[in-house]
Amino acid sequence: MLRLAVLVSGGGTNLQAIIDGIESGKIRDTEIALVISNKEGAYALKCAEKAGIDALCISPKAYDSGEAYDQAMIEEIDQRGVGLVVLAGFLVVLSEEFTKHYAGKIINIHPSLIPSFCGNGYYGLRVHEEVLKRGVKVTGATVHFVDAGTDTGPIILQKPVAVERDDTPEILQRRVMEEAEWLILPEVIDAIAHDRVRIEDKIAYVI
Ligand code: GRF
Repeated sequence: MLRLAVLVSGGGTNLQAIIDGIESGKIRDTEIALVISNKEGAYALKCAEKAGIDALCISPKAYDSGEAYDQAMIEEIDQRGVGLVVLAGFLVVLSEEFTKHYAGKIINIHPSLIPSFCGNGYYGLRVHEEVLKRGVKVTGATVHFVDAGTDTGPIILQKPVAVERDDTPEILQRRVMEEAEWLILPEVIDAIAHDRVRIEDKIAYVI
């Protein structure tokens, strides 16, 4: 049984996709052991509570240093026997110590086709605003392993989404969520739960 810790900051739609995926059997042999938000009152915490999942708010503001914040998170995660940390709309930049501690066992969902429209400052609606500004015809979402950089870890799975002429950032964000994020994140989690993800020479792929 793969036990997950899901880290969230906002709406929790990707968390909900994981909850629904486990419920429907799309994600097998997996359970969510813990949801952690950095934001008090994040709607994602309500999704977790509604599903009867242990949910905590651990705010960086409550700690004197990044190290202390890391330690608080690691303590809660490790005492629950977690095998995979999932960043699902999580907006705190994690330290190198944290990502090293979970090397190969931490993934993130990003709302573009990495390496386009990613890196510092590219999150949430800003990603889709830049996509529309640049006039690209295809965008999408990416699930990747998390390393010490921002959106730089090995890419595991991607899914393209067409950009339509009259898209607004909000319309495009919703389509990328519905047609890509909420599909590929559960797919990768199920693959990891069944040891079907490999990394060779820093290239990851699902077998
Ligand atoms: C989503 O676009 C996700 O790709 C990005 O944060 C946004 C909000 O995610 N990482 P959620 O609704 O909180 O899961």
